[in-house]
Amino acid sequence: MRILVTGGAGFIGSHLIDRLMKAEHEVLCLDNFYTGDKSNIRQWVNHPNFELIRHDVTEPIRLEVDQIYHLACPASPVHYQFNPIKTVKTNVLGTINMLGLAKRVKARLLMASTSEVYGDPEVHPQPEEYWGKVNCTGIRSCYDEGKRISETLCFDYYREHQVDIRVARIFNTYGPRMLENDGRVVSNFIVQALRGIPLTVYGDGSQTRSFCYVWDLVEGLMRLMNGDQIGPINLGNPGEYTILQLAQIIQEMVNPDAELIHKPLPQDDPKQRQPDITKAKTYLAWEPTVPLLEGLKLTVEDFSKRFAVKVVGKDF
Ligand SMILES: NC(=O)c1ccc[n+]([C@@H]2O[C@H](COP(=O)([O-])OP(=O)(O)OC[C@H]3O[C@@H](n4cnc5c(N)ncnc54)[C@H](O)[C@@H]3O)[C@@H](O)[C@H]2O)c1
Repeated sequence: MRILVTGGAGFIGSHLIDRLMKAEHEVLCLDNFYTGDKSNIRQWVNHPNFELIRHDVTEPIRLEVDQIYHLACPASPVHYQFNPIKTVKTNVLGTINMLGLAKRVKARLLMASTSEVYGDPEVHPQPEEYWGKVNCTGIRSCYDEGKRISETLCFDYYREHQVDIRVARIFNTYGPRMLENDGRVVSNFIVQALRGIPLTVYGDGSQTRSFCYVWDLVEGLMRLMNGDQIGPINLGNPGEYTILQLAQIIQEMVNPDAELIHKPLPQDDPKQRQPDITKAKTYLAWEPTVPLLEGLKLTVEDFSKRFAVKVVGKDF
């Protein structure tokens, strides 16, 4: 199949491309390189089945494809809050453009939505039927509301134009190739521990998150794309940890001498986040398989390698 991956040079997109290329599909990677990096897809650049397109999804594009994984959107607060209006445009115009493309060429489109559509949830864990509690004027709204309108657009194109959609609600995902400066909790703690600086825990660290290893997530996305459920379907790891527990695990694994310090909680930070993955289990026969300790080990190894390269570069 000819498969378009928007945001393909990013963290999740590049792991997805690895899987699609290994399955011998023709893959078009479309990215504006805002948070993506060519090094993530370097291994495929000269492959005859691979094409790299520098393009911004807020502009329309004409391509002939069978499937579209629509992942283009900065995912971490640091990056999506840097230019919030652009984040809204990426979610609204970008999703309209990709749905328009899917409609024209009759491609199936999978939209990478997020657990952030649940906001600061009053229901725990969050099933897909829960409508969420989102602040529409806060600093996270460009992303949370952006993804909500992306979902709305998918369902309107489905109802009005019979576009073949799939909607995945992705929960916190981690793994190799995360950006070291993206402010997400796993990369923050690993980078701080490797640098020997204190690990920053926001609030008292009792807020909880669930962490899904990226290979598990990619498997879930592919099952959703190739199955007959349109979603929305939660994809995440239901194993729930407090932020303090995560900090202690990474401290122990990387640098037991590193200190833990506390800073005030950011605005609208959700207190609890855990997916209910009953639907993914039932309809996609999917559930995560990589335990947190194993996934963290692989992630720490990747960061250590990248840091080693930088240190060598500096020394010479
Ligand atoms: N990582 C997570 O934990 C998580 C959780 C929920 C949802 N998601 C969603 O999954 C998708 C991928 O997330 P990620 O973690 O790989 O993030 P990422 O920032 O690493 O990847 C996003 C990619 O999209 C590209 N991009 C951004 N704006 C674009 C635009 N206007 N036009 C073209 N390309 C653009 C970036 O350059 C980058 O390569 C995002 O849509 C995100 O919202 C991720």
